[in-house]
Amino acid sequence: SAAPDLEGRHVVISAGGTREPLDPVRFLGNRSSGKQGYALARTAAARGARVTLVAANTGLPDPAGVDVVRVGTAVQLREAVLKAAADADAVVMAAAVADFRPAAYAAGKIKKKDGRDPDPIVLVRNPDILAEISADRARPGQVIVGFAAETDDVLANGRTKLARKGCDLLVVNEVGERKTFGAEESEAVVLGADGSETPVPYGPKEDLADTVWNLVVRRLG
Ligand code: C5P
Repeated sequence: SAAPDLEGRHVVISAGGTREPLDPVRFLGNRSSGKQGYALARTAAARGARVTLVAANTGLPDPAGVDVVRVGTAVQLREAVLKAAADADAVVMAAAVADFRPAAYAAGKIKKKDGRDPDPIVLVRNPDILAEISADRARPGQVIVGFAAETDDVLANGRTKLARKGCDLLVVNEVGERKTFGAEESEAVVLGADGSETPVPYGPKEDLADTVWNLVVRRLG
């Protein structure tokens, strides 16, 4: 079993993908399965942490010994993360959060009208939760980790994103055909705000999760 190097620590993890409703039966969503976030929750619990898992639309069973808060939209995810982060030692934002949501919600199902083109869907920005919690830390020394899926210039785009978000670590995944979304395994590079670069070879999501916790533990001191 793992070393209890997160004992006495509270960690918050977001997982899954937000859904932004258009009407009572439709939403804008994404393909995130939640598996990486759940792997982070299981491994943190195995290392002795108290774990809050903010789960957005995942079909996965609650991990044993983990406090699970279920949410739907980005705005709900923000509320749950801010609340749990207040006394957290580390926050890992593994959820795929929609950058935009429909400007309007139709209380009744949107209908097609004979012979007419559909109305365009107007979007507005969602809050960037990772940037917000990084800029305004709930406690000094809190370690904040983001995830980024990139299709090209993975490292350069990752560096830019790390600086823009202001987090301590950014896990950069290259996405493509066989990769990452819904898969059991993944490959990544973890970039540090200190300039460090930690490659994680293709393998189980638990291995990537344990590498993230190793880097977090080092920063918690
Ligand atoms: O900007 P991008 O969506 O690529 O950033 C991904 C990272 O930022 C993830 O860690 C994700 O959880 C977080 N994020 C967020 N709020 C948003 C969009 C993304 O916290 N509105």
